[in-house]
Amino acid sequence: MKIFPVSLRPDFIIWLIIGFFMISGVLPVYASGTVSLKKPPASLEEWYKPANKRQVWLHTMFRLRREMQAIAVYAKNNDQEAMLKWIKRLDKDYNKITSMVPEWEEEIKPRLIPDLKMFAEKGDALRVDKTLKMIKRTCDDCHTQYQPLVTATYRSPFYNDIKLKDGNGKTQSFDDNMDQLSRSVNRILIALDDGHNAVALQASQKFVDQLQTLGSSCSSCHKDDDYPHERILGKDTGQRFKKLQANIKQGLVKDSQKLMGEIAVTVCARCHNTHRIVSDLRNALLPDE
Ligand code: HEC
Ligand code: HEC
Ligand code: HEC
Repeated sequence: MKIFPVSLRPDFIIWLIIGFFMISGVLPVYASGTVSLKKPPASLEEWYKPANKRQVWLHTMFRLRREMQAIAVYAKNNDQEAMLKWIKRLDKDYNKITSMVPEWEEEIKPRLIPDLKMFAEKGDALRVDKTLKMIKRTCDDCHTQYQPLVTATYRSPFYNDIKLKDGNGKTQSFDDNMDQLSRSVNRILIALDDGHNAVALQASQKFVDQLQTLGSSCSSCHKDDDYPHERILGKDTGQRFKKLQANIKQGLVKDSQKLMGEIAVTVCARCHNTHRIVSDLRNALLPDE
């Protein structure tokens, strides 16, 4: 079993913890500046897109949670028939864990399911509850060790593969576009600061073009959904840029700087808060890619 040791600066740790909450809802095991996560077995890959048509592993997990809840509810209500129906389903899905990923044989305790069934048949709600808790512990143990890396590997968006097309039909990587955006923002701010309004205006046009190029990427993930593009690069942003260029032309430096601040928040930060945090986390967790 390969262990991933990730050495971290203190500010990184806080950031990682926030990230873990975001993507998994699970706190990592960490001590004195180190996080250790186990790398998931390779055979898991075939239960995720694109190797599989569906996210089979994840949907098995959702069913397991529903089954555990149903059994607990019916144990409380003393509804034996319903309990047995859901235990049968739990049996099937719990054992699917190792039929899908044989390397995880040690992680589950299949013998707990016949126990559960026996207690249900006897109407022993107390022991049903106890056994459910023992099963739950196997769920939690595996999640603590593996869930964050699995989510990062198979379910977080990946930007390196995305190719952008600029106005001249030239392709560009996501990172190059980000680098240019950041340069344009600062070129405008420097020029405004020093009263070079013609330079600021020219840089602002470049900035608009670069965002247009970035806009061509949205649909590669947000298929058939116009809302995400509208939210960040839509009408409101268009208006701000019009106003910015009018202000620069009139030499209204303070107003222009204020608008640049608004653009940085509504365009850059708004997008970074969802996309970049997850992307940076993925890159930190999976440094080999
Ligand atoms: C799609 C939404 C989106 C928008 C809008 C956006 N960014 Fe980004 N930005 C990202 C993502 C995602 C990353 C991380 C990319 C990666 O890991 O490959 C990133 C990374 C960056 C980086 C770091 C690049 C690097 O090489 O590490 C800079 C700098 C940056 N963005 C600047 C900006 C600026 C300035 C703006 C606004 C003018 C902006 N971005 C708008 C999504 C966005
Ligand atoms: C051998 C390891 C393992 C065991 C045992 C296991 N899981 Fe999971 N589970 C995972 C992994 C890995 C993920 C992350 C999947 C992802 O993010 O795509 C996960 C994710 C989940 C999720 C999704 C959480 C979310 O909202 O994103 C649920 C629900 C879940 N498991 C329920 C259960 C239940 C209930 C059990 C026990 C009956 C269980 N799991 C047992 C490995 C396991
Ligand atoms: C590599 C994949 C990827 C790309 C490219 C991408 N996004 Fe996203 N975006 C996501 C994911 C994943 C989410 C979170 C789940 C969701 O809302 O679909 C998200 C969420 C969002 C949200 C929040 C949606 C909501 O309902 O609150 C907005 C807004 C958004 N993206 C805008 C954009 C814009 C604008 C672009 C192009 C400049 C873009 N995205 C490009 C993957 C991507």
